[in-house]
Amino acid sequence: MTLPTARILGIESSCDETAAAVVNDGREIHSNVVASQMELHAQYGGVFPELASREHVKAIYAIVEQALIQSHLNIEDIDAIAVTQGPGLAGSLIVGMNMAKGLALATGKPLLGVNHLEGHIYSAWLYPANASPHQPPRFPLLALLVSGGHSELVLVKDHLVYERLGGTLDDAAGEAFDKVARLLGLPYPGGPSIQKASLNGKATAFVFPRALMEGTWDFSFSGVKTAVLRTVESIQSEAHSLPVEDLAASFQAAVVDVLVEKTLMAADEFQVKEIIVAGGVSANKRLREKMLSESKLPVHIPPLSLCTDNAAMIAGAGYYHYAQGDYSPFDIDVLPTWPLS
Ligand code: KG4
Ligand code: ZN
Repeated sequence: MTLPTARILGIESSCDETAAAVVNDGREIHSNVVASQMELHAQYGGVFPELASREHVKAIYAIVEQALIQSHLNIEDIDAIAVTQGPGLAGSLIVGMNMAKGLALATGKPLLGVNHLEGHIYSAWLYPANASPHQPPRFPLLALLVSGGHSELVLVKDHLVYERLGGTLDDAAGEAFDKVARLLGLPYPGGPSIQKASLNGKATAFVFPRALMEGTWDFSFSGVKTAVLRTVESIQSEAHSLPVEDLAASFQAAVVDVLVEKTLMAADEFQVKEIIVAGGVSANKRLREKMLSESKLPVHIPPLSLCTDNAAMIAGAGYYHYAQGDYSPFDIDVLPTWPLS
């Protein structure tokens, strides 16, 4: 693939973050603006879809404007507009999609529909404009994508060439964190709350199951979630107070062990050169440390600001579609359940 010089405006609105960013040549971040609705949804213990889309409607114009201002560019200076086409919440995706179509139509620039999971993978290529670039990931590579909606192992053979090896059969890793946090009375989003509570807890206090799902590259987190529930019920039935920190630390250890072990097994099996860990759960400190210390291969884990949803990763992935001339027609629809391969 010949790689042109291009400034891409990325737009992301698949869940509860309204985001826009400008990225040069798929890697260099010139602006990366994210408006989170987290506080709004926290009172409901999870994302409230209709509220999310309405918040996107209110925020999107100002967020895109900010992304352009912070990159010191006008819309005319942009080469193409990349937007998350799916997967995600339909009503939320539509807001970003319509903004992107409007801008592309008004400026005559290409429209690039990007898969959100592909975006998470491309977060490993990004670096801030004022920093020196790291070595880009080398193919073939294995990506562990762990977010609120997904836990997937993906073999990435080349730019935009994916083979999905497996995924969760029930709860996504982030979803398990969110549900267990709720069980333990910890605030939404559950991942950061469990991580915080774990700091003062003992990871070996409770032994929760580690479902390795041998013979497949799939994950299952419903067993560990149910085991935490049963333990909580049994402690409460004896009228003892919950050892929240120990429960959180033991749960976190069980999930992280499975994620790391399966990833390293798949990396070995498919003889990849490098590993990428991405998605909201890749912000988890224990996961980052364990993956980095146990892998013999180079591991790319984006900085925290690029682990959770953002538009720089959409612009980054969009760049490779632009380079291939893979432009989207103006009648593309959002794809709420779009698989990566
Ligand atoms: O990628 P993301 O921002 O949105 C989706 O595409 O889903 O991921 C959000 C998920 C939530 O489930 C959240 O609890 C989890 O990522 N998360 C974490 C941490 N930070 C965010 N999970 C574990 N540890 C963390 N530090
Ligand atoms: Zn995401």
